[in-house]
Amino acid sequence: MKELDGQVALVTGGSRGIGLAIAQELGRAGAKVAVVGRNGEAAESAAASLEGAGHRGYACDVSDAEAAKTVIGKVEEELGPIEILVNNAGITKDNIFIRMKEEQWDDVLAVNLKGAFNMTRNLARGMMKRRSGVILNITSVVGIVGNAGQVNYAASKAGLIGFTKSLAKELASRGIRCNAIAPGFIKTDMTAELPEATLEELQARIPLGRFGDPEDVGGLVRFLAGPAARYITGQVVAVDGGMAI
Ligand code: NAI
Repeated sequence: MKELDGQVALVTGGSRGIGLAIAQELGRAGAKVAVVGRNGEAAESAAASLEGAGHRGYACDVSDAEAAKTVIGKVEEELGPIEILVNNAGITKDNIFIRMKEEQWDDVLAVNLKGAFNMTRNLARGMMKRRSGVILNITSVVGIVGNAGQVNYAASKAGLIGFTKSLAKELASRGIRCNAIAPGFIKTDMTAELPEATLEELQARIPLGRFGDPEDVGGLVRFLAGPAARYITGQVVAVDGGMAI
């Protein structure tokens, strides 16, 4: 018997990087995972690669409110009521503030913050009726400490922290827990293009002396989704090698 046996989990942006590692870990813990991504084929092949049975991939742009509603209906029809939601989909469109275009601001807020709203809104009612559920939002240390060149991204991630804490307060009496996870620097496609000099400088600022792996985030999600975390809600847990201390 595994701790998430038979539970349905939905992970947005689950086809690669941190989202894929989260989906893998939830599958390993016994959950049936709905992998949601912009590209349906990539989501399906990610779902097929997970340990355990009953996983499926779905295409959905989380910034599209209608698409979010449709995909949740489809997942619940095919896999059953969603008990664990992981809002992981996220993008960056970096620029120094003075050159930041309205479109860069809007796009990042639409995916990172409104995307979480779109997905959560369509699930919360069912969770409230069942009086149980777990909502996990992948924010970033940048949402806590800020970062030059990322005002849009940092604002979206700080927004997710406010969203998490408020939702935790609103939904606690209905048996729903809501927490945020703040990764530091994790090796994925998102961070692959930084120049060598920047990487060295960043690494020097991490007390544990290395960049994180997607699995480091997956392990924390598994813990927070499971029964061992039943008394934890409204928290922002950093997984950053001590970067934000
Ligand atoms: P990634 O770029 O490798 O993966 C992001 C995933 O989100 C992709 O599967 C992508 O297709 C999906 N996605 C993007 N826009 C979407 C949309 N509109 N609808 C549905 N899916 C969409 O990035 P990574 O590094 O795996 O990041 C995952 C999350 O972790 C993001 O929210 C990111 O902001 C956050 N994060 C990453 C850190 C890092 O160092 N890599 C640090 C802190 C937070």
